Amino acid sequence: PQRARFRVWTEEDVRGTWPAAKDYTHKGTFGTGLLIAGSRQMPGCAILAGTGAMRAGVGKLVMATEKTVADSCVISLPEATYVDREDSQWRKDPSISKIAAVAIGPGLKPDDSLENLITDFLEESEFPVILDAGALSERSYPKGRKSPVILTPHPGEMARITGKTVAEVNENRIQLASDYAISHHVTVVLKGMNTVIAFPDGTGFVNVTGNRGLSKGGTGDTLTGILLGMASQGYQPSMAANAVYLHGKTAELYAEEKAPSSMLASDIMQIWPVLLRKME
Ligand code: APR
Ligand code: MG
Repeated sequence: PQRARFRVWTEEDVRGTWPAAKDYTHKGTFGTGLLIAGSRQMPGCAILAGTGAMRAGVGKLVMATEKTVADSCVISLPEATYVDREDSQWRKDPSISKIAAVAIGPGLKPDDSLENLITDFLEESEFPVILDAGALSERSYPKGRKSPVILTPHPGEMARITGKTVAEVNENRIQLASDYAISHHVTVVLKGMNTVIAFPDGTGFVNVTGNRGLSKGGTGDTLTGILLGMASQGYQPSMAANAVYLHGKTAELYAEEKAPSSMLASDIMQIWPVLLRKME
């Protein structure tokens, strides 16, 4: 394969690609996002991702999750609505008849029913599909799909979907992410320090924001939510790089006054509003 040549995604890039503010808005202007996340063992992932989506500006958020998860999520995220994923008819719920994007995976374990659900979305929907954590597996993706598929693996998940070891993944992250993006017709966000954003056309970027404040459980779930929130408002390729850039930047802002080791994933979306203000 061709040698991948990626460049660093900068603050100027973020400013230059940020969508213009809209007038005469209502919640329908900013789309409905569907988040399929959270399980009894990992309920917090749904809250983190859901908060990410809502603070990133989605108009409406629908969370499809187990009833007990919804019962606990609603306390910290009363702004979302909930559908019961254990109900076999949940996909016919009117609240998700017109969704703009879906994110699947935070806090989920891979199993056959999840795999079938993902296949349905990949084959039958025409909106962006974001796959993370439990939704990542070794599979193929339909070619010529109208809307993008975005995968957000950390190195361990990248190893799982490529059949490589983590050491092999980290040997040449750019080349591997780019090769995978081209061959599977997906956008790959290969996470970790210097996250790689690789597009199916062979182009891509490297992000250099962030610090060890993000090396803690839950920060990836938050990124998935941010991606969902942005994609629901209208997809453009730059949003993946912008999401990663700003996600990392929150940790830098946090570290200006506080010790990075003390940062929590939930701090990302606490800092987000001030960060976005600074970017205007
Ligand atoms: N510098 C910059 N960014 C960093 C750094 C660092 N030093 N450390 C971590 N990050 C960023 C990564 O780039 C990524 O965006 O933090 C995020 C970590 O994401 P994940 O590895 O997915 O972590 P997490 O949210 O804890 O995952 C929780 O989901 O992926 C599954 O198996 C995983 O059960 C785990 C769960
Ligand atoms: Mg993760």
